[in-house]
Amino acid sequence: MFSKKTIILASLLLLSIAFLPRVYADNSCINCHKNLSAFNATEQQFNKIRLEHLARDVPCSLQCHVTVLNKFAVNNYDQWTTSKHALAGVTCNNCHGGDPSSDIKENAHIGILRSSDPNSTVFYRNVPETCGKCHTNELKQFKDSLHYQKLEANQQAPTCDTCHKPHVFQVLNISEFHDVCSNCHNPEMKVAPPDVPDKAITALENAEKLTNEIDIANNYIAQAKLEGKNVSAAQMDLDNAMSIRDSLPVLWHRFDLATFQNEITDGIDSAQKAQQESGIPPQPTPSAPGFDIAFSLAGIAALYLLSRRK
Ligand code: HEC
Ligand code: HEC
Ligand code: HEC
Ligand code: HEC
Ligand code: HEC
Repeated sequence: MFSKKTIILASLLLLSIAFLPRVYADNSCINCHKNLSAFNATEQQFNKIRLEHLARDVPCSLQCHVTVLNKFAVNNYDQWTTSKHALAGVTCNNCHGGDPSSDIKENAHIGILRSSDPNSTVFYRNVPETCGKCHTNELKQFKDSLHYQKLEANQQAPTCDTCHKPHVFQVLNISEFHDVCSNCHNPEMKVAPPDVPDKAITALENAEKLTNEIDIANNYIAQAKLEGKNVSAAQMDLDNAMSIRDSLPVLWHRFDLATFQNEITDGIDSAQKAQQESGIPPQPTPSAPGFDIAFSLAGIAALYLLSRRK
């Protein structure tokens, strides 16, 4: 069986493939890059091995043959089409620069530098500023982190696309998480505390607990309203819990797990208080949302895309 998440993602992907060509008709980066020739299966394997061997800052160990780059350019395009960025209208030029109104490669590429060039917008140390043009709050928190300090000091540390893999730029799920952190947070390398990955996973699991408590409080308050009870005190505590929940993904980027955990504890307290204040006696946990919700989400996405069609 497919999970609900897979079904939602698959629907979005199908929709995005169906609509992308129209939405981006006037962006030359997209028009040209989607037509370049892709890697075949053998080449793909070969490149995977080479990529595994590729250390940062080693210029051109991928062989800077135009043909290889050409294939990366279309593979990256393919990955990008599955990203939220593609749906939100964030195109290649938003991160790489260049001139998306020119159909001539040399002109379109003016100002674009390879990621190994320290002046490139996508050089790993410049990536936070490039992403931070739009993700200002994440950048602000990230600048307060030990990760950022180490990055600035030219030491080993993750940048935005270490965790949000180009060009899908997704949020890691908890199962992928451990491996990424353990690249540096491990006892052998001695560059970063080894217990961090487990602690980070616990923290994110606690954030999910907060979401559950909020759902319960929401249900109780809805029921209390139906019964004609006064819910204003409960609603205030619920609002507080929800605003804490909404602030967590941004706060996360400070990589200060103690502060992160304290916020979650406050949020859970508020949500549980709201449950009590609703006056509804504790009930068994409600079941997870069903397929109907998955399909209405896909429907909303479809309407959104239709509304963007010129
Ligand atoms: C007319 C076709 C064409 C257009 C338009 C075009 N590209 Fe390219 N691009 C290519 C090809 C082909 C490559 C492979 C390397 C090469 O031939 O230079 C490439 C390579 C790249 C690379 C790899 C690094 C490099 O400098 O070679 C980046 C990044 C890139 N393109 C981004 C963009 C962006 C951003 C735009 C729009 C502003 C754009 N491209 C417009 C054809 C195009
Ligand atoms: C949200 C920002 C973002 C967007 C949008 C984006 N890229 Fe990139 N791209 C990056 C980053 C960051 C890297 C460097 C990855 C690394 O360090 O391994 C990169 C690397 C590349 C490379 C490898 C060449 C190099 O300089 O290392 C190519 C080719 C490329 N991108 C093409 C594209 C194309 C084509 C699009 C549009 C379909 C696109 N990118 C959209 C951020 C972006
Ligand atoms: C031109 C603006 C812009 C730039 C530059 C940009 N983003 Fe985004 N990003 C967006 C928008 C818009 C969304 C979709 C709406 C949202 O979730 O905020 C988004 C969504 C995301 C998401 C959430 C994806 C998901 O599946 O939920 C991540 C992660 C992300 N961006 C990472 C990055 C990274 C990393 C960079 C730099 C390499 C970057 N972004 C550069 C505008 C941008
Ligand atoms: C490329 C290397 C690298 C990767 C990957 C990495 N980190 Fe780090 N991290 C560091 C370094 C270096 C420090 C600073 C260690 C020090 O000086 O105390 C650090 C510090 C931290 C701290 C602060 C620890 C403290 O004692 O305050 C947290 C939290 C953290 N990392 C979380 C993570 C998580 C979660 C991941 C995976 C999603 C991750 N890191 C991935 C290199 C990395
Ligand atoms: C060490 C790993 C790591 C690094 C580095 C990192 N992120 Fe994230 N990012 C995550 C994780 C994990 C989440 C999900 C957090 C959560 O759900 O509480 C996330 C969530 C996001 C989101 C979605 C936020 C939302 O409201 O749902 C965006 C956008 C984002 N990151 C952008 C960035 C940008 C921009 C940078 C660089 C300035 C960056 N990230 C650096 C791991 C990282």
